[in-house]
Amino acid sequence: MSKKVLIVYGTRFGNTEEVSIKFKQILEENGFTVDLVNLKAKKKVKPNITDYSGVLIGSGIRIARWTKEAKKFLKNNVKAINENQILTGIYVCSGEASNPDERPAVIKKYLVDVFKEYSLNLGENVLYDAFGGVFDLSSTSNLGWMNKRMLRMAAEEDPNIVLNERRDYRDWDQINSFLDPFMRRLE
Ligand SMILES: Cc1cc2nc3c(=O)[nH]c(=O)nc-3n(C[C@H](O)[C@H](O)[C@H](O)COP(=O)(O)O)c2cc1C
Repeated sequence: MSKKVLIVYGTRFGNTEEVSIKFKQILEENGFTVDLVNLKAKKKVKPNITDYSGVLIGSGIRIARWTKEAKKFLKNNVKAINENQILTGIYVCSGEASNPDERPAVIKKYLVDVFKEYSLNLGENVLYDAFGGVFDLSSTSNLGWMNKRMLRMAAEEDPNIVLNERRDYRDWDQINSFLDPFMRRLE
């Protein structure tokens, strides 16, 4: 019987969703069965993580915050992860992580500090990483006017944000290799 993996994610503009869909595809290509859950979807599903061999939890970052749904999922499942040593991969899509030099600081701020806040034990069963994000100020952007306004203001200080353009700083090699140790541990 193939091993089951749960992927849950919270996304505001679809970037973490694309990463999560890619993870589903890679896992399925490697023989795993995958349930993919958008935590912000209207139709609520409450997966039980103890039904799975491994779980992936993803969130986008906006104004220094995870989506509230992804944070709530982590909070509600920390006990099960700690007690059952469930293999868990946690990732964020973060504009600040777009610059590889910034990644260690982003990992601390948006991952390690969050794990401390929720008392998630950082055992060998927990893998985590910060991926770059997308800044979309193009004419086809799905950001609302308020988000665009905030990005335009941030563009004055951050050369990665370019007016009227979509800049995608996700490193797909980094993203694809995140699953290597995860899948190895499930073999
Ligand atoms: C209004 C706004 C605020 C943002 N604030 C942050 C931030 O505080 N830190 C950060 O790393 N990235 C920030 N970003 C960049 C997002 O992390 C990036 O767009 C990411 O790809 C979003 O992922 P999502 O589409 O899955 O939500 C911001 C983006 C927008 C539009």
